[in-house]
Amino acid sequence: MTNILVTGGAGYIGSHACKALKGAGYTPVTYDNLSTGWEDAVQFGPFEKGDLNDRERLDQIFAAYQPAAILHFAALSQVGESMREPGLYWHNNVAGSLTLFQAAVEAGCLDVVFSSTCATYGDQDNVVLDESSARHPINAYGSSKRAVEDILRDFEAAYGLRHVIFRYFNVAGADPEAEVGEFHQPETHLVPLILDAIDGKRDALTIFGTDYETPDGTCIRDYVHVMDLVDAHLQGLKWLEEGKESRAFNLGTGSGFSVREVIDRAAAMTGREVPTIEGLRRPGDCTKLVSGSTRAVSELGWSPARSTLEQMIGDAWRWHQTGHYAK
Ligand code: UFG
Repeated sequence: MTNILVTGGAGYIGSHACKALKGAGYTPVTYDNLSTGWEDAVQFGPFEKGDLNDRERLDQIFAAYQPAAILHFAALSQVGESMREPGLYWHNNVAGSLTLFQAAVEAGCLDVVFSSTCATYGDQDNVVLDESSARHPINAYGSSKRAVEDILRDFEAAYGLRHVIFRYFNVAGADPEAEVGEFHQPETHLVPLILDAIDGKRDALTIFGTDYETPDGTCIRDYVHVMDLVDAHLQGLKWLEEGKESRAFNLGTGSGFSVREVIDRAAAMTGREVPTIEGLRRPGDCTKLVSGSTRAVSELGWSPARSTLEQMIGDAWRWHQTGHYAK
């Protein structure tokens, strides 16, 4: 069996990727410091607790498992937090990735699939965001991810570390079998917060800004089902296995939904009211982030077939009602 090192495998997207990797015949080796992840989410392969900034521990892991490639998910990912504490983002995301890549190069593990973000593009009104769009992040989270992309470019030139970069748009939904799902503490993401508000786990959802220049005044995002997203990672892995050139791909569907549209759809699907409060804009939020690229579809053969609001909300709701992790 081929080992794949999955940093952040105890997190939301990483755990779904581990399930998909196992299904495809790989052994996912989770490396996670559990700062935001859950040991309960590691169900599909070995777990090694460790931090990206711990070079000695990383050297041990590379020696023990000899992974063929790395899926690098581990990162802090909250836009708001990154504005308040940028140092955390540079330390964890940038310095941590640098340490990981240095260890990988030394161990001869030269294929990396990296989780980047559309937040690297920044707020570019009326611009179609494709992979060659300028990267002008407006928050420290986006800056940290852009910096890691740049490290990858330089490490490829110097050491032959090859990469596939995925710039995620907004990931939502859960494993349809509800073995793993989205669970953050604290929760900051729109869909799980809506579901919490629906079933009374919190009082009301605050809508962050109703005065954006969008048809209903709320921000627009391009939502992708987490299972579609992890499919792309398997295709990215194959891309590298086949020796193709390093490449960046947007992972978005090209359709945007406003905050109000997501709320209304969740209310209609669950038959419950979503209590809401109209609040102020959240610092660092872009007005509209929608992918304008089909590169992943045409080059990787990616098909984001599950990324309808119905399926994302439906799978998230099922997980919300049945699934839990305990610390
Ligand atoms: N929102 C609210 N109220 C809330 C939470 C969110 O109105 O309580 C709004 C946000 O303002 C935004 C939308 O819902 O317009 C989606 O917000 P999320 O926090 O779910 O997602 P973000 O768009 O802020 O961030 C996500 C990822 C980031 C990534 C970013 C790129 O979490 O890692 O997408 O857009 F960088």
